[in-house]
Amino acid sequence: MTKTKSQTEHTPVLLGQVLQYLDPQPKETYLDVTAGYGGHASAIQSRTNGWPMVLVDRDSNSVEFLESRFEGQHVDIIHDDFLHASQELAENNRKFDMILADLGVSSPHLNIASRGFAIKQDGPLDMRMDQSQTLTAEKIVNTYSESDLVRILREYGEEPRAFRIARAIMHGRPIRTTHQLAEIVAQQFRGYHKVHPATRTFQGIRIAVNDELGQVERAIPIWLSLLKPGGRLGIISFHSLEDRIVKKAFADRSGSVYDSELTVLTKRPSVADKFEIVSNPRARSAKLRVAVKK
Ligand SMILES: C[S@@+](CC[C@H](N)C(=O)[O-])C[C@H]1O[C@@H](n2cnc3c(N)ncnc32)[C@H](O)[C@@H]1O
Repeated sequence: MTKTKSQTEHTPVLLGQVLQYLDPQPKETYLDVTAGYGGHASAIQSRTNGWPMVLVDRDSNSVEFLESRFEGQHVDIIHDDFLHASQELAENNRKFDMILADLGVSSPHLNIASRGFAIKQDGPLDMRMDQSQTLTAEKIVNTYSESDLVRILREYGEEPRAFRIARAIMHGRPIRTTHQLAEIVAQQFRGYHKVHPATRTFQGIRIAVNDELGQVERAIPIWLSLLKPGGRLGIISFHSLEDRIVKKAFADRSGSVYDSELTVLTKRPSVADKFEIVSNPRARSAKLRVAVKK
């Protein structure tokens, strides 16, 4: 089936800053652990003069797209989650000059209703980045205990009305579609809202379905072990909890002690300017942190 533009179109965020901090040079090797639709990878490839790259994504639509975009070039494409893929690369003693993790979902995830990520488009409650995984949003919403729902909404969604929403979900079961869930959550709020009142709920459930925070926390030390001396690791996060994990991981391994492993290049995270935010609203919450291995 041919894919429409919105099903494959993704504008890479903070591209200028990524190139500035990762500073790709000819004949440097690159590992992209969230390659998506290859926007960052392609810009880096043009600076490394087509030197070999490894691209990882857990989403089969992305992988299919990457395989055709980079066909016949020195590019290895791995369909896996980045934690497992990185463990295997480390077991094979692979080393890279640059590693990039651009976390979260891609625009096509949000544009394809059947993937179940979008509040505004009706679809099945799915939200899996890896379509072969068994845990779905529908399973969480319909089978998790009220206290587990509260924890997910509060911790991952940072939703102040977690209790109330969790109770409404319990009463609303069975809930099968994104619109049904969005409606149940919206009923717990009154008045005008700039963003849809179910935004935090959807975010919390999505993070739980894909174990997004656990994957990053466990993968960072492996990414550092995959860097050559002088190698750069860039991580773009879209969520304060993710950013906190990255900030702490970098801080724990840098500083003035003689045996620190890293130098942090971004004392404060690099963010999008207003021009980028206007042309690509996804960039609004993007934060880039970069560290160099000593
Ligand atoms: C924001 S997009 C990346 C876009 C990419 N930088 C580009 O320029 O096209 C994030 C991608 O990471 C993938 N992803 C998120 N978490 C992942 C994980 N734990 N393992 C592998 N891929 C992951 C998603 O499937 C998605 O395609």
